[in-house]
Amino acid sequence: MTVLVVGASGSVGGGVVAGLLERGVDVRATSRTPEKLSLPEQVGVFAADMNDPASFAEVLESVDRIFLYADLAQPQALLAAVAAAGVRHVVLLSSSSVTFPGAAEDFNGSRFLAVERAVEESGLAYTFLRPGGFASNAARWSWGIKADGAVPLPYPEAVQAPVHEQDIADVAVVALTGDSLIGKRPVLTGPERLSLREQVATIGEVIGRRLSVIEQTEQESSAMLSRYVPEVWVRQIIKGWREAVGATPIISGEYTQITARPSRTFRTWVDDNIDLFR
Ligand SMILES: NC(=O)c1ccc[n+]([C@@H]2O[C@H](COP(=O)([O-])OP(=O)(O)OC[C@H]3O[C@@H](n4cnc5c(N)ncnc54)[C@H](OP(=O)(O)O)[C@@H]3O)[C@@H](O)[C@H]2O)c1
Repeated sequence: MTVLVVGASGSVGGGVVAGLLERGVDVRATSRTPEKLSLPEQVGVFAADMNDPASFAEVLESVDRIFLYADLAQPQALLAAVAAAGVRHVVLLSSSSVTFPGAAEDFNGSRFLAVERAVEESGLAYTFLRPGGFASNAARWSWGIKADGAVPLPYPEAVQAPVHEQDIADVAVVALTGDSLIGKRPVLTGPERLSLREQVATIGEVIGRRLSVIEQTEQESSAMLSRYVPEVWVRQIIKGWREAVGATPIISGEYTQITARPSRTFRTWVDDNIDLFR
């Protein structure tokens, strides 16, 4: 069986490649800049852009299953090429935002829903991975933590259940190596609810420094985030925090049902990425 991982440079995609190799699967990988990938020799590496379906012509040959990110403008064209090549199963990295009330009207929910719908209509077998907020979003705080041990935030009491990207990759690997998750849409969350303030405190405990949270206005936060995040995302991030103040996000438990292992905690994510913060 040959599995194609689109986005092998990604934090989830990279974990998917590693997990498939551990299971002895024949893996191909794509990137828009394949020269930057550093993968074991047995992985076939190809240049491909999801927004240019023709760039997939060669890499799709004899592929059985494919892991896809949802960051594509015209999913129908790529999915038609995938189906025409004889691929039988798509594992799509979607988002739990599609399950929220009003998802179809929400910027984030609607873009993932559009890609999910295109996959359903393609006739391909599918698995939709629907993670909540990633633990890796905390990487955005690394600069402030390194500079002066301070994390500016507009809504420090926003509550999340941050999911470790390796948990998402583990479930993708289960989906890509058997039929048990065909037609399934697992929602993946971390095992615990933590406010942003508690996440900052956890980082401080792991690196052995007392960190502080500086309360910002939305405007201040927006101006700061805009330096490195596109404007449309800045609004989404701040809206997500605002709506999560005092919330009780679900803890899905699906990771454990699928893998028979406990979900990784936020602290584990910090341990795994400690160099970001010191
Ligand atoms: N952050 C969250 O809280 C959250 C929550 C739910 C869902 N998500 C979704 O999860 C994804 C982020 O996952 P991640 O952290 O693993 O991402 P990441 O580390 O930023 O990697 C993204 C990957 O997507 C590939 N990619 C992007 N556009 C592409 C294109 N046009 N053609 C081919 N490959 C393309 C990139 O490949 P190259 O650059 O090498 O070509 C890269 O490998 C996003 O879709 C995001 O919307 C995020």
